[in-house]
Amino acid sequence: MPPPSSTFSPPCEAVASPCPEEAPLTKTMISYGRQSIGDEDVQALLEAIRAPLLTQGPTIERFEEALAGLVGARYAVAVANGTAALILAVRALDLPPGSAVVTTSNTFIATVNAIILNGLRPVLCDLDPATANLDLAHLAALLEGDPTIKAILPVHFAGHPCPMAEIAALAARHDCLVLEDACHALASSYGGIPVGSCRHSALTVFSFHPVKHITTGEGGAITTNDRGLRDRLARLRNHGIVRDLPSAPPWFYDVVEVGYNFRLTDLQAALGLAQLGRSDHFLQRRRDLVRIYQDLLAGDRDLTLTLARLGTEPSWHLLVARLTDPFLREHKAELFALCATAGVRLQVHYVPIHYHTCFVERFGRPSLPACEDYYRAALSLPIFPELEDGQVAEVVAVVRGAIAELREEQA
Ligand SMILES: Cc1ncc(COP(=O)(O)O)c(C=O)c1O
Repeated sequence: MPPPSSTFSPPCEAVASPCPEEAPLTKTMISYGRQSIGDEDVQALLEAIRAPLLTQGPTIERFEEALAGLVGARYAVAVANGTAALILAVRALDLPPGSAVVTTSNTFIATVNAIILNGLRPVLCDLDPATANLDLAHLAALLEGDPTIKAILPVHFAGHPCPMAEIAALAARHDCLVLEDACHALASSYGGIPVGSCRHSALTVFSFHPVKHITTGEGGAITTNDRGLRDRLARLRNHGIVRDLPSAPPWFYDVVEVGYNFRLTDLQAALGLAQLGRSDHFLQRRRDLVRIYQDLLAGDRDLTLTLARLGTEPSWHLLVARLTDPFLREHKAELFALCATAGVRLQVHYVPIHYHTCFVERFGRPSLPACEDYYRAALSLPIFPELEDGQVAEVVAVVRGAIAELREEQA
């Protein structure tokens, strides 16, 4: 890791005391997210591994069709992971050299890396404290002030859908394209519109990492309603290769542009298909868990849960709570250590992008006060389909116990 630059503040900057050592993740520890693997997944993988083609076979297309059907898009292109999907999606927009892309600072670094790796400049927008998604007023100001911004990349953080109609209207006013990072938001919807349908964007990107709504081990996809974009993405995923050229010999292929090997395997697609079959169940279970957390934490004076924005149906990929007491915010690292010792691994989503060395060294450090405030207060509680009702109660009891212990130590 490069040494921190002079302007750099470490991720623990919000913590007055030094960060305690992280407890090792054990099998019995309740973590913030985990895959759910059933017998149907195992069966699908067994069949797939005996199939004639382990990669570039017909299961990919079946998975793509099922995914596109689920989100109401015309096409889906399956790729190796969500990061690859983002890199291809930004590339496929063909933005003019020197363009900037505006996104949130409250995201995983992959969102921003995809912009940088395409030779473009990321501009970071502050967040709306209610949802921790892009703040529309700040977004409008950024677009107004920077004519080099040619695309908007909203992230549906934690599965909470961004206000896409408003974002699309701003994009139209400023001649920008829109692509959505929906790595958290498979199965989310707003006003009955599924995230991924690309109703208000050119492209939407998904991840199938094990903590996500469905998993393929590693995996990702891009959805679109544009046939040209679909074909380009499929070509870029496979080195830029074009086959079946008219009057060419059967072995011939041409490489028409420089691409990648970002392919998903048929094994992964088979797992993905089986997992998609349980998407409704996963969503329902996450909703049930949120309800249990909400009941247990109703009226809690230390923890406030993020609520769904009116008219939205989040996937509840993450369940974020905010610490209301400045004392607890300052001692968040100790709180995490106490919870880990008691078997509960909390997380923070995310360390703001503008705290990372790789961003600061290239682009400086913007002031994004809402994001910084959110970062000090936020913690992610465990939520995944196999979390049991009783474990939710255990998590809440552990967090409350840790808070009480911290206060006692301070008294
Ligand atoms: C918001 C967001 N974007 C992009 C990614 C990258 O996805 P992947 O891990 O599949 O490459 C992630 C993964 O954690 C993410 O959370």
